[in-house]
Amino acid sequence: MREKLARLREEALARLGAVSGQAELEELRVKYLGKKGEITAILREMGRLPAEERPAMGQLANDVRAAIESGIAAAKTKVEAAALEARLKSEALDVTVPGREVTVGKRHPMYVALDEMKEIFIGMGFTVLDGPEVELAELNFDRLNAEEGHPSRDWSDTFYFDRDSRVMLRSQTSPMQVRAMDSMELPIRIIAPGRVYRKDEVDATHSPMFHQVEGMVIDKGVTMADLKGTLNTVVEKLYGAGTKTRFRPHHFPFTEPSCEVDVQCHKCGGAGCPTCKGEGWIELLGAGMIHPHVLEMAGIDPEVWSGWAFGFGLERTAMRRFMIDDLRLIFENDVRFLRQF
Ligand code: DAH
Repeated sequence: MREKLARLREEALARLGAVSGQAELEELRVKYLGKKGEITAILREMGRLPAEERPAMGQLANDVRAAIESGIAAAKTKVEAAALEARLKSEALDVTVPGREVTVGKRHPMYVALDEMKEIFIGMGFTVLDGPEVELAELNFDRLNAEEGHPSRDWSDTFYFDRDSRVMLRSQTSPMQVRAMDSMELPIRIIAPGRVYRKDEVDATHSPMFHQVEGMVIDKGVTMADLKGTLNTVVEKLYGAGTKTRFRPHHFPFTEPSCEVDVQCHKCGGAGCPTCKGEGWIELLGAGMIHPHVLEMAGIDPEVWSGWAFGFGLERTAMRRFMIDDLRLIFENDVRFLRQF
């Protein structure tokens, strides 16, 4: 038995010294010290020894157990250190590796142009309003002097939600004039940018959804000269000093007189080219003096107050601002195009 114990100690310490991982270590612990392990087996045999030999043998068995236990503790420290080492190696961070490039988005050129425009108008004392895209035909048409039978009220031009043509996708931002007159104190100076909808086919200059920036001023003694001065200032701030505008007579039901405002073509400088269809000018907006009847319908006395209004096409404004020659580029969201701005 003495020899058995000596062999056991030798074998156990040798195997523990060469142990290579946590699992193997646990296996050895069970093999030597476990309930069904080898030390236990030997101790069980002690009963067969003569009584006088038992104390010495018991002492020896305890020594062997203690030796194996400290062998296990040492092996455990070694195995854990090796595991830590391996982990550190596999997780090593090379701070000299170049970073992965992150592509950052940009503002869409049309919103850049809108922000510039808002800034200009805010600087002139205008308030920026936001309004609903689902609008009452009453505000989009009736209150703007476009009565039943007006061509733009036709189902072939306008998106209606109901059979009675009372609720619609606004076809212009002009109903914001009515909303402002109904809700604000006089005098009024507002702009109202937003989406508008018409039943148009997509081409280089048309889209069923596009953006307008409505503007309106109502005060005492406001004239067409103020309108021209304001619009010329805005156009020069947007497109550079010396940019020429052209005011042409036109008709809108809610203004009298009415005009359309063109800006010199950015491609040809006025000589005529495909972008301006040979005209030398690009139409930017409609405008005019607010019709007295429109003021009256809002409860404003046209003998005391006067005003003007305008509606910019925002896409056109941005196209002129960034020298873009096809409207579709604005909506397609092709990053190769958008990245340029
Ligand atoms: N709403 C008009 C359109 O969509 C544009 C317009 C013209 C707006 C004259 C105005 C205006 O405010 O006074 O064609």
